[in-house]
Amino acid sequence: MIEYRTLKIALLGAGTVGQQVAKLLLERTDELAGRIGAGLELAGIAVRDPDKPREVELPRELFTTDAAQLIHGSDIVIELMGGIEPARTLILEALNSGADVITGNKALLATHGAELFDAAEQVGAQLYYEAAVGGAIPIIRPLRESLAGDRVTRILGIVNGTTNFMLDRMDTLGEGFTEALATATELGYAEADPTADVGGWDAAAKAALLASLAFHTNVPLDAVYREGIEDLTREQVDRAHAMGYVVKLLAICERIPAPDGGEGVSARVYPALIPRTHPLAAVHGVFNAVFVEAEAAGGLMFYGAGAGGVQTASAVLGDVVSAARRHVAGGPGVAESTHANLPVLPISAAITRYHVTLHVTDQPGVLAEIARIFAENGTSIETMQQSTTSDGGDGPTATLVIGTHAAPEASLAATVAALRRSRVVKSIAHVLRIEGA
Ligand code: NAP
Ligand code: HSE
Repeated sequence: MIEYRTLKIALLGAGTVGQQVAKLLLERTDELAGRIGAGLELAGIAVRDPDKPREVELPRELFTTDAAQLIHGSDIVIELMGGIEPARTLILEALNSGADVITGNKALLATHGAELFDAAEQVGAQLYYEAAVGGAIPIIRPLRESLAGDRVTRILGIVNGTTNFMLDRMDTLGEGFTEALATATELGYAEADPTADVGGWDAAAKAALLASLAFHTNVPLDAVYREGIEDLTREQVDRAHAMGYVVKLLAICERIPAPDGGEGVSARVYPALIPRTHPLAAVHGVFNAVFVEAEAAGGLMFYGAGAGGVQTASAVLGDVVSAARRHVAGGPGVAESTHANLPVLPISAAITRYHVTLHVTDQPGVLAEIARIFAENGTSIETMQQSTTSDGGDGPTATLVIGTHAAPEASLAATVAALRRSRVVKSIAHVLRIEGA
């Protein structure tokens, strides 16, 4: 029988994900030891209430409320408490004690990542976070390792399962926003306070992590442009459907031209139209997917369960094996690469396409006036459809559906602002961006 050294693991949190991690660590002790070349001992689990009933039966003697004490003397610390504090302080304590840390806490990494990665680098420890984006989907390690020799140009991600579930119901079942949110809440996908999901905050935190990793640049959460799906109507989704598009909440990370002629990074989250032929259009329900475009590799799609206790535990366990193997091999951890240090550009610098639906006065010269507004603001029209709608009491009205060529967001925004001011425009029904076309 092989004698392994034993690595101590401290688990902080035994909620949806933490208790599944504990279960797998206890069930797979021998199998994991064989893969790692070292034994793993779950030294303890820090929670708020050790006596709280849990879905998974775990030995009572493992539970403690003293997270700081548990960290002391551990080789690997797994943080699955969520939130900013005390998670941040505990992770810093763990890293400073030389432990490797594993976390699924995208909100913390997107706001305090630089501080935490610096702390890890100072002591030669490593911070792993595969579970922070896309739940079970391997996307952090592929970006960090498999694609490290390539040049990622763009990432389009469906990284929030709750909103994807809602948009899918709106698209396939004709539900409205309120009805779709009620279903998501009833099925336990949406939180009691759904702001982080429907407001795009959760997706923005994930975009910050993906952009930082893909472009070797620190991209904090407040540099990510964000719009949620709260104002999206069933009519917009129906219209998109009829035009051959589907609406998805996308996390978009791109290399784009910077004003100095060099390169910059754009990171943004908003509901956008994608062609029904795009691989991301086939991502239904609560599933997540990340579509990565790299110069040599071309397009790559990473797809799977974006959340869920046991699914996310799979990603955490992968990090545990990596951290444990690193302890066995010795040597310092691999620091987070931010060497490119590209400027993170505002939304006005993004290059995108618009899909605008407007109601206009139906009389001679109106199309010419609309075309003039687009031209004057540097936006080229790609497609235009006109249908005559009934006179609602304020004279004959036509509906125009206009698709634009790619243009800087600043030009598109100026075009829409000028349309709003125009005397021939009665109302702007919808403005959505087009991506992935
Ligand atoms: P959760 O169900 O809310 O569980 C949180 C756990 O942390 C609970 O066991 C809680 O203790 C403990 N905890 C919270 N604050 C604490 C404190 N101050 N001191 C000690 N213990 C504390 O969370 P979760 O859904 O498992 O998520 C954990 C992390 O994984 C989050 O960062 C989340 O964003 C991330 N994540 C979750 C999913 C998912 O599908 N749920 C997917 C990907 C990533 P008690 O049990 O005693 O209350
Ligand atoms: N609330 C997230 C979602 C899961 O709906 O995808 C964890 O990131």
